[in-house]
Amino acid sequence: MTHTQIDTLTSWLDEARSAVFFGGAGVSTASGIPDFRSAAGLYASQGRGGRSPEYMLSHECLMNEPAEFFTFHRQNLVHPDAQPNRAHTGLAELERQARMTAVVTQNIDGLHQKAGSQVVHELHGSVQRYYCLGRGHHQFTLEQIPDSPVVPICPDCGAMIRPDVVLYGEMLDDDVVDAAVTAVRQADVLLVGGTSLNVYPAAGLLHYYRGDRLALVNLTETPMDYQADLVIHSPIDEVIGQVCDRLFV
Ligand code: APR
Repeated sequence: MTHTQIDTLTSWLDEARSAVFFGGAGVSTASGIPDFRSAAGLYASQGRGGRSPEYMLSHECLMNEPAEFFTFHRQNLVHPDAQPNRAHTGLAELERQARMTAVVTQNIDGLHQKAGSQVVHELHGSVQRYYCLGRGHHQFTLEQIPDSPVVPICPDCGAMIRPDVVLYGEMLDDDVVDAAVTAVRQADVLLVGGTSLNVYPAAGLLHYYRGDRLALVNLTETPMDYQADLVIHSPIDEVIGQVCDRLFV
């Protein structure tokens, strides 16, 4: 990243009153959580042998092979010790300073809330929340889910408990999508970071942005780089950290 790029992003966010952040797994790699499609990502590490990670993260796998699903889920998607990094804390500060109105994330790790962000639209749900498949849809936190049996069972009704995560083959929650679209539509600055922008409908959110201050911060090129008003191929945690150091010293 160049000083000019950081200067531009800093001035945009200093003038912003309704900035929105849209992010993905690259926001949490600095917290020790692998992303999906990078060389060191989950899909690369699991690609050799075994079933595809997309299958292991699917509704079909949950229903047909729950023990395999939960073993994969616990090993690869639950990171109880992960802590927010400077991207998460910087975004929470931008909200506190009334520059940013919302975070829209594809991540399910809950680190934005842990960092203090109040308005977080979780397009793909969260591993911090679980519910049972019984009629009552009893709800549980991650801490309430025992390590065994492998497939957690509801103590109230005996039905299987599942994570409140959008699995492959499932639809996104309409209310969450509507809230995210509204936030992006009203954004004066749209900061996109740590996402390959490969997965729809999430990636399609960018098309609702109507301003001329679309900043894309990603380690690698994305299919939307050509649409951005500012492209920075650097770590999102470092970029947000530098911007916040300038804005809020
Ligand atoms: N700073 C900036 N970019 C980073 C960083 C970082 N510190 N670390 C990784 N990246 C980039 C990678 O180069 C990659 O382009 O973040 C991007 C992460 O892309 P993916 O692994 O595809 O993750 P994401 O875009 O969130 O995937 C979307 O796909 O599998 C589904 O449901 C899953 O929510 C996920 C969705």
